[in-house]
Amino acid sequence: MVRNVAGLLPELETEDFYLLSGVEQGMRFSEWVQREKLPKFSSLTEEEVDYRLERCLKRGLVEKKTIQYEGYTLQFEGYDILALRALVEQDTISEFGSPLGVGKESDVYEVKSYKPHALKYHREGYTNFREVHKERDYTSDNEHVSWMYTARKAAEREYDILEELYPDVSVPRPIGQNRHAIVMEKMDGVELSRTKLEDAQVLGVLDLLVREVARAYEEGYVHADMSEYNVFVSEEGVKVFDWPQAVPTDHENADEFLRRDLTNIVGYFRRKYPKHVPDELESDDVAESVADGSFETVTDV
Ligand SMILES: Nc1ncnc2c1ncn2[C@@H]1O[C@H](COP(=O)(O)OP(=O)(O)OP(=O)(O)O)[C@@H](O)[C@H]1O
Ligand SMILES: [Mg+2]
Repeated sequence: MVRNVAGLLPELETEDFYLLSGVEQGMRFSEWVQREKLPKFSSLTEEEVDYRLERCLKRGLVEKKTIQYEGYTLQFEGYDILALRALVEQDTISEFGSPLGVGKESDVYEVKSYKPHALKYHREGYTNFREVHKERDYTSDNEHVSWMYTARKAAEREYDILEELYPDVSVPRPIGQNRHAIVMEKMDGVELSRTKLEDAQVLGVLDLLVREVARAYEEGYVHADMSEYNVFVSEEGVKVFDWPQAVPTDHENADEFLRRDLTNIVGYFRRKYPKHVPDELESDDVAESVADGSFETVTDV
């Protein structure tokens, strides 16, 4: 797991961030950035570089390795703090709070500016990256840097999709993005998987959810990872989150993903609330009506 770096923010100095950004810049060209190149990348003197490297090493923000040369690379924590500081500087965040969730591919924390928001650090590529680290020597290739790239791309993608869907589809309002981090509205309510709906609500909630799927489809997207874990339920209704893997409706597998999403949802409701989901409700029929724009309610399909 990646440590929460928010507590380090007050003790780091501007020059520490110059150094971290310098390492980040160098990593565009190679995984391990040569010590000699750091003064140029970070606009710091030789002495400053040594001093700042020591501070950042001590805090686990960078890693050092000497193979053919003395090289440095960012730890995920170093990348986190660069994103965090940028979001603070642009006033997207003023206070850091407690964890809201740990996914397979993300860490989500509560943050505040004028009101509570959620900060999601993308971790795509992190697991692979760790395995690569364990198993081989990485002196020459550039693959390792791909964790940074993969996580940043996923965050950019999720943010763009939220911007396109909000507010027509019930998704968390996007607030800001930097590197592999996005800030969005903090959702009220709980995950669908953790609720026990009352009898009278079951079909209504299923219906609301399929309507969001249909609206997202109209707006040009299929979620493609739809499940009871990516939906929040509250007094106000449902919210669908976790969008980085969504595909446009003209993607060659879009309709297959749509069918799978609806199979997941209808299957979940049928397992958990067997008495409430009519036998004749077939997820493939729902998918078809969503795709051809004729979906109205689940009781009609
Ligand atoms: N905007 C938000 N407001 C409140 N809680 C949130 C928000 N976004 C995410 N969470 C919490 O964090 C958890 C992880 O978020 P999300 O599903 O987006 O990440 P993930 O790592 O992609 O998940 P997965 O494990 O499905 O891959 C969610 O299950 C949820 O509990
Ligand atoms: Mg999720």
